[in-house]
Amino acid sequence: MKVSRPIFLLCAAISVAACTSARYDGPVYLDKDAPIEDRVEDALSRMTTEEKVAVIHAQSKFSSAGVPRLGIPELWCTDGPHGIRPEVLWDEWSQAGWTNDSCTAFPALTCLAATWNRDMSALYGKSIGEEALYRNKDVLLGPGVNILRTPLNGRNFEYMGEDPYLSGQMVVPYVKNVQKNGVAACVKHFALNNEETFRHSIDVDLDDRALYEIYLPAFKAAVQEGGAWAVMGSYNLYHGQHGTYNERLINRILKGEWGFDGAVISDWGATHETDAAVKYGLDLEFGSWTDGLAFGASNAYDNYYLANPYLAKLRSGEFTTKELDDKVRRVLRLIFRTAMNSEKGFGSLNSEAHAAAARQIGDEGIVLLKNDGNLLPVPDDASILVVGENAVKMMTVGGGSSSLKVQHEISPLDGIRNRSKAETKYARGYVGDVGGTFDGVSSGQDLRDGRTEEELIAEAVAMAGEADYVIFVGGLNKSEHQDSEGLDRLSLGLPYDQDAVISALVKANPRTIVALVSGNPVSMPWVSEVPAILQCWYLGSEAGNSIADVLFGDVNPSGKLPFTFPAALEDSPAHYGGRQFPNNGPTFYDEGIFVGYRWFEEKDIKPLFAFGHGLSYTVFEYGEAKADKTSMGEGGRIRISVPVKNAGETAGSETVQLYISDVESSLPRPRKELKDFAKIRLGPGESATVTFEIDEDKLCFYDDSKAAWTAEPGEFRALIGSASDDIRTEVGFTLK
Ligand code: GLC
Repeated sequence: MKVSRPIFLLCAAISVAACTSARYDGPVYLDKDAPIEDRVEDALSRMTTEEKVAVIHAQSKFSSAGVPRLGIPELWCTDGPHGIRPEVLWDEWSQAGWTNDSCTAFPALTCLAATWNRDMSALYGKSIGEEALYRNKDVLLGPGVNILRTPLNGRNFEYMGEDPYLSGQMVVPYVKNVQKNGVAACVKHFALNNEETFRHSIDVDLDDRALYEIYLPAFKAAVQEGGAWAVMGSYNLYHGQHGTYNERLINRILKGEWGFDGAVISDWGATHETDAAVKYGLDLEFGSWTDGLAFGASNAYDNYYLANPYLAKLRSGEFTTKELDDKVRRVLRLIFRTAMNSEKGFGSLNSEAHAAAARQIGDEGIVLLKNDGNLLPVPDDASILVVGENAVKMMTVGGGSSSLKVQHEISPLDGIRNRSKAETKYARGYVGDVGGTFDGVSSGQDLRDGRTEEELIAEAVAMAGEADYVIFVGGLNKSEHQDSEGLDRLSLGLPYDQDAVISALVKANPRTIVALVSGNPVSMPWVSEVPAILQCWYLGSEAGNSIADVLFGDVNPSGKLPFTFPAALEDSPAHYGGRQFPNNGPTFYDEGIFVGYRWFEEKDIKPLFAFGHGLSYTVFEYGEAKADKTSMGEGGRIRISVPVKNAGETAGSETVQLYISDVESSLPRPRKELKDFAKIRLGPGESATVTFEIDEDKLCFYDDSKAAWTAEPGEFRALIGSASDDIRTEVGFTLK
């Protein structure tokens, strides 16, 4: 429990004065105007070895100790990337049962990525940071930016898709704007945590090109452009060393090459030894010894690897304080940036502004995958039959550490009912997972239904024929082997035999729309039968409102897919040719840089829906791309402009995507790579010119033989379009 800040500062000042009045002679580290580095050095110089060791490991499930003698407060962490987890008991995972810690659930980060709108990321970071601040949290354990390598990874819904550039662009504003609240973002899980089943034991190996070109860029952007104050080390191993203390990933790359000055926080239960944790860059150990993931033992926190075992080695002289002082500096820097940041405000929780932000991000992230005959939007006065468990099931409870206790969650059915001017009926259609509790939080829903599959389908089919429109709301959920932490999905298909329900519905009523609530690609055997398909993500507290906004045309959908939908699982790189997944122990990512659309294009495999795909209720026409010069010299840049017109009757937004193709390269390169994007809003008939600036960085690839980023002179193509498989115009240029 934390005391309020004013009282705390008074106590701290008194305690500082009381115990150091005689000998105090340096800058007042409580002086808010002193440079942080002075405050860090001052505090460090006062701390005993015991106090130093105390601040580099947890003291409870989500807090680490401060230095009471010096008036330095403890540090409080909280999950998660989509909202602020309910308060937990000191050493429990279950919620403490407070009545004032319900929160706003913002859309999952796949939805944020699908907005392709950097402003939405800034709004997201600001809003969730305000909720963390109000809840007195110093470190937000998110966002996650692990790359989608396999569509079966249970945690893909928490991340930003398959492309390193999109993930990097969309993580930076989130980090910056969380931190403007005086709350640290803790970017996770660094690095190569791309599956769940064997996340504690898989030992990932891959070539350096894939490491630098695919799996690290989003983390690098978060650190170097976002200025992240914390990074969470991953459970998995890389090159035989645990991710959370890893000589190459943490010491050499994160802290060396990238100059990260923040704190590396272990994932909960990711620390397994003292020496390596000391030497290879772990700064703050959470959730181990008490195995960190299930239950605590008495005085467990003193037994953490960076606690008494480390203290003993310091006392015996096995370690000097060299590594210790570096860890403590980083933790103190984190504390001065957050808990002792005297600039910060008081935040806000469950404000109308946050609900509006959640709704706007959802509105902008929903992807219109298909809309034959412009079936959508649905007219106000159309009678509607809504079918499917996901139309009513709460999705903010469950799924692992991102699970929340929300103040409200508008279901898709309620959103549709509230918006429609005509009658809206509901049929269950199928029964999936009737559960609804996680870590002591209950959805309060009783979804039990004793009817058989046949009875459920028969009811839905009979009602379908009587409605003007049928809206099937299905997809995945946060249950085990669905979109959930700790386990992976077992297949690409929809669970609970939803495919049969969809096929039956569209036969009964051709005006059937499928709205998928999910965070991962799924297969769609019915894709040619169904005229309209929406990818709706996990939208959080305002889910039903965002879905209704798009369904009824109050919002013109503008989302674009942040990942490829494979037509079949074996089409995707992690499963190609019957490759083993999930895999324990040593695992080589032998597709290398060919992840996502890079793979599908390299292998000429047609996806079900392509990276960057997303339709609109209007039509955007592209003119010819023009370059302001035909060649670029050393350090130069080329401007590429393309006119875009809204040729329809409805205002809308289009994300213009720029891909670069290196026509000839000494090493294999993908057919094309996303290197910029711009989202523009155009009224009916309106035109605008989008201009991209290309510099050498956008032409580089990582040459592992030189351990350097390299742009080779020669011919390049700038490909500009509405999706990775919908290039509208292109222009060539050369790099001298
Ligand atoms: C979990 C997750 C991590 C989360 C942490 C605390 O195991 O991997 O994302 O922030 O532990 O709940």
